[in-house]
Amino acid sequence: MIEKLRINIQDTEHVTNVYIVWDEMSQEAVLIDPADKASIISDRIERLGLKLKYVLLTHAHKDHTVALPDIMKKYPDAKVIANENEREMLEGKYSDSSMVFNLKQYLDYDFSRFVFLKDGDEISFGNKKIIMYHTPGHTKGGACYYIKADNALFSGDTLFSDCFGRCDLVTSNIYDMAKSLDRLYKMFYGTGVFVYPGHGWDGETIESGYEEVKELMYRSYGINIGGKND
Ligand SMILES: [Fe+2]
Repeated sequence: MIEKLRINIQDTEHVTNVYIVWDEMSQEAVLIDPADKASIISDRIERLGLKLKYVLLTHAHKDHTVALPDIMKKYPDAKVIANENEREMLEGKYSDSSMVFNLKQYLDYDFSRFVFLKDGDEISFGNKKIIMYHTPGHTKGGACYYIKADNALFSGDTLFSDCFGRCDLVTSNIYDMAKSLDRLYKMFYGTGVFVYPGHGWDGETIESGYEEVKELMYRSYGINIGGKND
């Protein structure tokens, strides 16, 4: 089961999608991107009667992680999962006044509770398996999480329903983004997998936004992302 919360970041109009996914038999759950408003997220987890096993981070940006310290306090047994290439950003290495989101707050995390995975690593909750795919581009250690049992790809700010994430931020790289998108389409185009992005609409199949994404990449950057096995 997948539940989506749309969370406003602090008192702005900026909205991030937060997902709670669980295994119905065991009631074990994962939380994807604790964007902000920890009490709204934890109330929902409590009301559903779930046991939070993992917090999965698609990347380190503040608009996906403001609630992380409070969620870690509330659920002391939950581990935090991120890609190994995102560690430096979580540690605050790239805090930079030009950043849209100030990263300094991250210095206080308890890193003993983090598990840094690499591309293709698997973890599980209840009877469900999660595969992490390293998809750099928006950030160096951006990740997508694939849960086959739910036919769902949680794509963070890598892939939205009909466009892709910004590539003008610290550790962004447009060529990496093009490679990541190409790879996602090669793996998933034709499977009917549903995309659950960090912002905007969710629950569209990966096929539905393919032409728009491809065209946007070509028009904006002159890069042909290929994909779709062509
Ligand atoms: Fe982001």
